[in-house]
Amino acid sequence: MKMLIKVATLSALLVASSLNGAEATKIVDINAQASDATRITKEDLGNKKVVTELALGLRKTDLYEESNETTGDKADYSRPAPGASTRFERAFVNAPPMIPHSVEGLLPITTANNQCVGCHMPAVAPSMKATPIPTSHFTNYRPTTVMDGEKVLKEGKEMGPGNTSDVLVAKAQKSEKLNNSRFNCSQCHAPQSKAGTAVANTFQGDFGDGKGKSGSSLADVMNEGVE
Ligand code: HEC
Ligand code: HEC
Repeated sequence: MKMLIKVATLSALLVASSLNGAEATKIVDINAQASDATRITKEDLGNKKVVTELALGLRKTDLYEESNETTGDKADYSRPAPGASTRFERAFVNAPPMIPHSVEGLLPITTANNQCVGCHMPAVAPSMKATPIPTSHFTNYRPTTVMDGEKVLKEGKEMGPGNTSDVLVAKAQKSEKLNNSRFNCSQCHAPQSKAGTAVANTFQGDFGDGKGKSGSSLADVMNEGVE
């Protein structure tokens, strides 16, 4: 029953969510297999009378023997080129989206070479069919910090001795320029390896109206719950 509902919501989402209203955006549910209800029940140790050492560990081979079968999953990051890939569903509301396309030749990002911005800056993104870099990345959320003699002032407020973090959320300063703290894209956005999950995933993000599965709006809700 639960599964049916999930499938129904996902297909509704595929129809409802679209980048420019013209075509429906397809997204890949990265938890489809890991969050399978049958798998979760099977792996739930709470419903078992006896829990063996084997069941406790992530590896499912003899714990007292290093046999050839005891090898980790091989990482495989091969993906279609930018423009030919399918986006991944976000892990939770306002989670940084995983990079769905190949990053071959794009990494590492250096001060002199950041190809990500070449396709993702809002001015060029629509023509590349790429998701534009969001407003939050053009906003400085860091408190203005200055030294006044021996005193440390954050947002004009003097910090107590040894305490430099006791400051409310800084005034957001929007800019036309990409904020420096967002320059190193791969610090937060990572490619996804094709690998099975070692354990089932019982986490379910609360997506509210479901839109957050394929887009984000952190800048709009940054101060939600902050007084
Ligand atoms: C040649 C243009 C191009 C370059 C370069 C590029 N991208 Fe992309 N990116 C795209 C396109 C187009 C998509 C949409 C998916 C697709 O069609 O492959 C995308 C999708 C994404 C997404 C998913 C967004 C979402 O809505 O889920 C992320 C994250 C991303 N790219 C990050 C990066 C990062 C980080 C780099 C640099 C390492 C980069 N991209 C370089 C074109 C590009
Ligand atoms: C400090 C972490 C961090 C860095 C660095 C960072 N991002 Fe993000 N990014 C996020 C988070 C968190 C979100 C989701 C919340 C939001 O919208 O701000 C996001 C969202 C996005 C989205 C989806 C926007 C949407 O409308 O759904 C794109 C595209 C993106 N980032 C591209 C980039 C690119 C390209 C870079 C490098 C120039 C970059 N990001 C650097 C954390 C980061």
